[in-house]
Amino acid sequence: MLKESGLPRTVTLDTEKAELVIIDQTLLPNELKLLRLIELDEMCDAIKKLRVRGAPAIGVAAAAGLYCLAERYDTKNEDEFFQKLKADADILNATRPTARNLSWALEEMISCAESHKGKGVVAVKSALKAKAKDVEEQDVAVCKAIGEHGAALLKDGDTVMTVCNAGALAAVEYGTALAPVYVASENGKKVAVYSMETRPLLQGARLTSFELTENGVDTTLICDNMAASVLAQGKINAIFTGCDRVAANGDAANKIGTYMLAILAKHFDVPFYVCAPYSTVDFSTKKGEDIIIEQRSGEELRSLWYEKSMVTKKARIYNPAFDVTPAELITAFITERGIKKPHEL
Ligand code: MRU
Repeated sequence: MLKESGLPRTVTLDTEKAELVIIDQTLLPNELKLLRLIELDEMCDAIKKLRVRGAPAIGVAAAAGLYCLAERYDTKNEDEFFQKLKADADILNATRPTARNLSWALEEMISCAESHKGKGVVAVKSALKAKAKDVEEQDVAVCKAIGEHGAALLKDGDTVMTVCNAGALAAVEYGTALAPVYVASENGKKVAVYSMETRPLLQGARLTSFELTENGVDTTLICDNMAASVLAQGKINAIFTGCDRVAANGDAANKIGTYMLAILAKHFDVPFYVCAPYSTVDFSTKKGEDIIIEQRSGEELRSLWYEKSMVTKKARIYNPAFDVTPAELITAFITERGIKKPHEL
């Protein structure tokens, strides 16, 4: 979270203890609890259950987590060490399929280990520690840069709309889609935010509303089905969203509902910006339809937020976690390298 809020980082590596430290986001906004993780199954569980979530945050968590596991391998044999490292990286990588940052961060860790092969297990462990911390610090710098580029698009008094949570809770600090709002506020511009609730897991309601208000931003929550009505009233100057994976042609996967919002943006002639670091861009995936979309349990719609099930067992439930917004609906990507049209990535 932002330093000014007094809240801790969403995800961080405790280098002294070799522990992965995360805010348990399933408890927010009612309880702020830090979890310290050292076991593979608890790291995988934390990612699958969205205790840590948001593409950049799960990448940073996986890098730190892999180092914490490696630090505890009880072997001096490099071949055995590398076998374990790759097996654990594969298991972490399989936890969520859509966010590119997860595989990106693990690839960074494995290639770092490989570049130190032959120097002995102790040297490889120490390189992995430095690399995991570097992935974390890079995330802070990259998100700040996205914030600076995005803030230049905002005027004092503007109101933006966002979906899901692509703020500080989705990264280490700042986030992506909310970074421009935070940087604009730091520069003395007042920018208000309409946050979509984001069914079924309520990242907008539980997380975006929480972190924005903790950071002093004027915040209004709406249900997802209110977006058209709010846009029709001319209240929104720009839409900023995050992103989980960008294909080479600029199609972008993000939280389910983003595509719908992009269509509305076009209809109401409101600029639609996707904020993403280059670690989210997957040049090996040609187009959006090749992106694997995570399917989640129907219980998230049926019963998660209710005392009793709200859906008859006779109904099937379809629960894709993400959708893909075609490049032609995206006004521009806001990246750490500047503002880019989809074909300029
Ligand atoms: O399922 P989640 O909560 O991990 O989904 C998160 C999103 O869709 C975010 O918009 C995306 O990861 C970008 S976060 C900077």
